[in-house]
Amino acid sequence: MRVALLTGGGDCPGLNAVIYAAVRKGIQTYGDEFIGFLNGWRGVLDNNWIPLTLDSTDGIQLKGGTILHSSRTNVKKIPGGIEKVQEVLKTNNIDALIALGGDDTQSVTLFLSEHGVPSVGVPKTIDNDINGTDTTFGFDTAVSIATEAIDRIRTTADSHNRVIVVEVMGRDAGWIAYASGIAGGAHVVLVPEKDIDIEHVCALLKYNYDHGKHYGVVVVAEGCHLPKVGQIMGDAKTDSFGHARLSGIGEALAKLIEEKTGFETRSVNLGHTQRGGVPTAFDRLLGQRYGLHAIDMVHDKKWGRIAVLKGLDVTDITIKEAIASNRRLDERFFNVIKDLEAKV
Ligand code: F6P
Repeated sequence: MRVALLTGGGDCPGLNAVIYAAVRKGIQTYGDEFIGFLNGWRGVLDNNWIPLTLDSTDGIQLKGGTILHSSRTNVKKIPGGIEKVQEVLKTNNIDALIALGGDDTQSVTLFLSEHGVPSVGVPKTIDNDINGTDTTFGFDTAVSIATEAIDRIRTTADSHNRVIVVEVMGRDAGWIAYASGIAGGAHVVLVPEKDIDIEHVCALLKYNYDHGKHYGVVVVAEGCHLPKVGQIMGDAKTDSFGHARLSGIGEALAKLIEEKTGFETRSVNLGHTQRGGVPTAFDRLLGQRYGLHAIDMVHDKKWGRIAVLKGLDVTDITIKEAIASNRRLDERFFNVIKDLEAKV
């Protein structure tokens, strides 16, 4: 078969591991040929691609980013987009498409597979918010980077007797904040699934100052809602899937904390450092397992389905199910945060 791969949406460590494994098994086991469209769905519309071979993908499973580059391109919104995709795939004799991406990219994969394009998906996002999979690759790396940053912030917060608010990514899901906040021993962990109770935040920090620690570390997810204000947007722009750029809750919260407690407070937005650099061992392994499963899905003609991790197994579900809603934190995880907080 002649198979095309693409990576869409925000990049994430582990993408290259998926490409590596799919190409390797496809060529060695099935005798496939591969091309990679550049810049996500944009590359399909532009007929912009590179050949993928054993040589050209050698060693990429260790690298961060994506050798195929990425974009947030919504084919469904482009007049004639679907026809153009069909034409380009036909011109290049493509028998199947493997799309690596989060819910936005997969909404396009689903749309195309419903319009006769033989395609399958691989779930990608540092946000870990895709339904039906225990974890997406990239999440573990983002959490490790954020945890290391929190460790570093703790010592400088301590030296200067300050509160430092650390803003982490995750959109409307609090997975990164929850995991890095707990792993990093933050005194306050705030997730978008719960409204911020500013009086409680200040009480937790005062408890610290009253009990011999004259500093505090707060981890806040970028998608948290500030009372009476709501989510904070970096600017008024939205992407082609209608998502606003969330950024700034850390700074706003730091100001409020300082006003209310009198403690000197700073904020740090970890931003894209969370998506950069090499993947952790976990993400390299998970990415490669997803890649192996994706090429098997292609040969089993499992169109419109997406690879998922369930317990120890990589299996697949329909893309429809995977993108029906976002997977968010629930009571089990709120209880972890609550049980580890100071009792104020
Ligand atoms: O979905 C992944 C993510 O990193 C979110 O956590 C974040 O809100 C968004 O992408 C940032 O997007 P961009 O790279 O387009 O600024």
